Amino acid sequence: MQRMAVLTSGGDAPGMNAAIRAVVRSGIYNKIEVYGVYQGYQGLLEGQIEPMSLGSVADIIHRGGTILHTSRSDEFTTENGRQKAYENLSRLGINAMVVIGGNGSLKGAYEFSRTGIKVIGIPATIDNDIVYTRSIGFDTAVNTALEAINNIRDTATSHGRIFIIEVMGRDCGEIALAAGVAGGAESILIPEIEPNIDQVVTKIQNGMKRGKLHSIIVVAEGALSAMELRKELEEATGQDTRVTILGHIQRGGTPSAVDRILGSCMGKAAVDFLTEGENSTMVASREGRIQSIPLQEIINGTHTPELNMFEIARILSI
Ligand code: F6P
Repeated sequence: MQRMAVLTSGGDAPGMNAAIRAVVRSGIYNKIEVYGVYQGYQGLLEGQIEPMSLGSVADIIHRGGTILHTSRSDEFTTENGRQKAYENLSRLGINAMVVIGGNGSLKGAYEFSRTGIKVIGIPATIDNDIVYTRSIGFDTAVNTALEAINNIRDTATSHGRIFIIEVMGRDCGEIALAAGVAGGAESILIPEIEPNIDQVVTKIQNGMKRGKLHSIIVVAEGALSAMELRKELEEATGQDTRVTILGHIQRGGTPSAVDRILGSCMGKAAVDFLTEGENSTMVASREGRIQSIPLQEIINGTHTPELNMFEIARILSI
């Protein structure tokens, strides 16, 4: 292998830049020419491919987002689209590629690995919903959500209000669980567990009886509508209730040390796996060590959060 490409795809995640830097620098260290693909899979099939150097990844490890930019491409899900992408890489003599992204991007990586280009995936999504691994970006997103919960707690106490804080995660409750436990939320609602509104109401009422001034309820976006929950809670408790939707704030910001380290280790491992001849696998951080898992297992698996965290949160918020 003499030439390889790297791209980021799907929703950006803090720490992606650390992974790009590690891929580029480990590649160059191994005497491989590295090309950056701009705008994810869409850029790949449009031929937005540029050579990268040691300098092109200088001064990026601390930056959120992705210097290669990203996209969600419908065209790449078609065989025609992937053929165009294959031709663009082949024309430049590139026969290997590292894809940094979430579940949808890894599915694309798996399909693309069947064209003859060697592909290794790196899991990066704030949702932390990729099976068998921790994902780049999750730690930073949880810390961003936690900072918001801390701030909201101040105003919630001052006004004696209920606050519903909606966090991202698509269909996964990982961010809500982690930020909710760390933020001492009274209730956490996640898509993996049927929401029990009566239990939320009882908790608020018991708290009020004990003179508690506020309630913080963390809701994963995939669990239920925060606005409807607000209506139900106001009707049931008579308490002033506000909703804060954190949204894309969770996707940006300077990456935490955890995400920079994960990005660096996974980026180097991806190049090592390619030089060892691997194809169609993903770098995983599992049980404290970096390993490789076939992409086919990843795209066919289903991630479930540690649900004992939900039990911990329930008991600690009595
Ligand atoms: O997958 C990352 C994520 O931020 C999800 O948590 C969220 O549901 C989705 O992307 C939002 O996507 P978009 O940025 O396309 O609105």
